[in-house]
Amino acid sequence: MAKNVLILPGDGIGPEIVAEARKVLERVNQQFSLGLELNEALVGGAAIDATGVPLPDETLAAAKAADAILLGAVGGPKWDTNPDFQIRPEKGLLGIRSQLGLFGNLRPAILYPQLAHASTLKPEVVSGLDILIVRELTGGIYFGQPRGYRTKEGGVREGFNTYVYDENEIRRIGRVAFEAARARNKKLCSVDKANVLEVTVLWREVMNELAAEYPDVELSHMYVDNAAMQLVRAPKQFDVVVTGNMFGDILSDAAAMLTGSIGMLPSASLDANNKGMYEPCHGSAPDIAGQGIANPLATILSAAMMLRYSLNAPEAADAIEAAVSKVLDQPLRTADIMSEGMRRVSTSEMGDAVVAALA
Ligand code: IPM
Ligand code: MG
Repeated sequence: MAKNVLILPGDGIGPEIVAEARKVLERVNQQFSLGLELNEALVGGAAIDATGVPLPDETLAAAKAADAILLGAVGGPKWDTNPDFQIRPEKGLLGIRSQLGLFGNLRPAILYPQLAHASTLKPEVVSGLDILIVRELTGGIYFGQPRGYRTKEGGVREGFNTYVYDENEIRRIGRVAFEAARARNKKLCSVDKANVLEVTVLWREVMNELAAEYPDVELSHMYVDNAAMQLVRAPKQFDVVVTGNMFGDILSDAAAMLTGSIGMLPSASLDANNKGMYEPCHGSAPDIAGQGIANPLATILSAAMMLRYSLNAPEAADAIEAAVSKVLDQPLRTADIMSEGMRRVSTSEMGDAVVAALA
């Protein structure tokens, strides 16, 4: 039976990078006879411009019906000043995550040895880096109620959000992380702020309860400020890291830079049945949109994760990852991973190189 992949290009560099991932998907679709059907829909600012809302009903329905979703990026200055948060591009992305129950966000940070010199950190600090950040994606302060922005009596403005998790939400992301750790090096670090925030006192309790079910996994705890420091001081001490929505957002950007460029990092956002949405960890980069210089590899690697986790095509996933590594063996670099002696290539040249390496 044909498998349906919904592609959501979004805004900024989204359409450019997704076009390259699409080329790669079409190529493996043929090569491995996957029977994938690729469709596109609007989300984010592009959807606001066309329909007035960031997540049109049609897009949400297509997302629910799809076997997997590949997203580029959303957002940009054009829509940033709308005081109505419901009409912001980010609501399109957050809406899909929450309406599809995509609570388990996997953000692997792997340093390709070919890029050891592209990192701003010393090669010996990052060489061999292979960590996985497991971020809770549909709860926490991103979604807590009440939330708002208002002007109080006396004309004083006030903004507020609520950081809330119940134990079931913590337990289900905890299980994702413990299972991932079990399949890797059996080391899990849970990141919280249990010295200040009650919600993360509960987080820590639930993680400790789960540890009893996973005696083979070594669980440790770290405060988020320390974790940020340790990530840049000695990142290889980590294997799997599990944390809440906002801490995970911040730490995964930091982890991304360890690998040389945020342009290299894929992600998977999964529901309880491994149905999911796949997207690069980076944003829509409006400053470089339309110039054909963005790095498409994070999106191409996200497509590989999609084939592995949601489309049951691990050989195709392996082939794409091997092709990316083969391309990095060549002296071809987009601007973000450029270094001495390399040739600078455009977004589409990089995509073409991956397709050629698949042959
Ligand atoms: C990410 C992004 C999103 C987030 C934004 C675009 C809503 O930064 O996926 O990390 O904060 O989750
Ligand atoms: Mg982010």
